[in-house]
Amino acid sequence: MKSQMLDELPDRVSIYEVSPRDGLQNEAKPIALEAKQRLVDALIAAKLERIELTSFVSPRWIPQLADAEQLIERLAGRSDVTFSALCPNATGFERAKASGLREIAVFLSASETHNRKNTNKSIARSLSVFSEVVPPALEAGMRVRAYVSTVWGCPYEGDVDPRRALEIARQLLDLGCYQVSLGDTIGVGNPLQTRRILSLFSAEIPTQRLALHMHDTRGTALANALVGLEMGIRDFDASIAGLGGCPYAPGAAGNLATEDLVNMLHGMGVKTGVDLDKLMDAGKIAEDVIGRKLPGKVHQAGPFVRRPA
Ligand code: HMG
Ligand code: MG
Repeated sequence: MKSQMLDELPDRVSIYEVSPRDGLQNEAKPIALEAKQRLVDALIAAKLERIELTSFVSPRWIPQLADAEQLIERLAGRSDVTFSALCPNATGFERAKASGLREIAVFLSASETHNRKNTNKSIARSLSVFSEVVPPALEAGMRVRAYVSTVWGCPYEGDVDPRRALEIARQLLDLGCYQVSLGDTIGVGNPLQTRRILSLFSAEIPTQRLALHMHDTRGTALANALVGLEMGIRDFDASIAGLGGCPYAPGAAGNLATEDLVNMLHGMGVKTGVDLDKLMDAGKIAEDVIGRKLPGKVHQAGPFVRRPA
């Protein structure tokens, strides 16, 4: 039987760790700054080089991340990692700039209802807000990442036309965002759908400018990431031990577990720069910080150490 799948794996991919933001934003019980810092220190010790720390959003909408400035202050001076934070508007940008952060991430959805529930705006309004946030951020020397959520499906509207998501992504890149991370916000994607979406996108956007942000709600995140890898995606978002969810997307579970992604990639000879043993330690700390078991598979089972038979 002949298959070309997995014939041309890359040497290396980049992992963008979202647990301190996407992971913690959904936690109802307040988490102390010290605990958040412990988690981030453990992620850095595992050699994750890109970490989304927090959000400069309204503290009324996401109370858990109201301590954004204090957390960044505690972690200032770390040269071995690039920190980023979500930014929905000009107030968020001013807060990010004042905090000294060098990277922000703007975000909106490909479906109107989710965008309204999440940001109280239409898609057109979000794009107009970003057209007044991204240029000054670039002028201030920041890098700007972007998210398009609900690309694989919306909790309110169901199917989403990927051509709408593509149009939004194009506008975000035209504004100067260095990368658009495509979100399966509620984890409804399947590998064939992922191939169709990425075929559409890659016909117009270089794959180096795309990332995948797959929530693992229905267990398909790793399969979808593998399709992305096959199709030239080299940037993957992940969350330690599968921590997280979006509070404005009912039923959303955490992002693809970082250990599951790293374990699969390393097993296939694809480098990430991440230390899997230290990542396992970070998973235990994440559990300790939130006070309950986390769902990541490798987090639970441990990595398999291969030995010659
Ligand atoms: P709004 O209520 O329409 O805001 O919320 P507004 O502009 O009318 O302002 C109302 C009040 O909020 C004002 O204060 C503003 O100053 C304040 P007041 O005068 O009443 O005292 N305010 C702010 N305060 C601090 N920082 C700010 C800020 N902006 C306004 N940046 C807003 C609009 C966008 C602010 C709100 O809807 C919001 O914060 N939404 C964020 C929701 C969120 O963080 N959701 C989760 C992240 S998205 C996600 O998880 C998906 C993703 O992971 C990808 C995927 O999975 O697909 C990224
Ligand atoms: Mg998310």
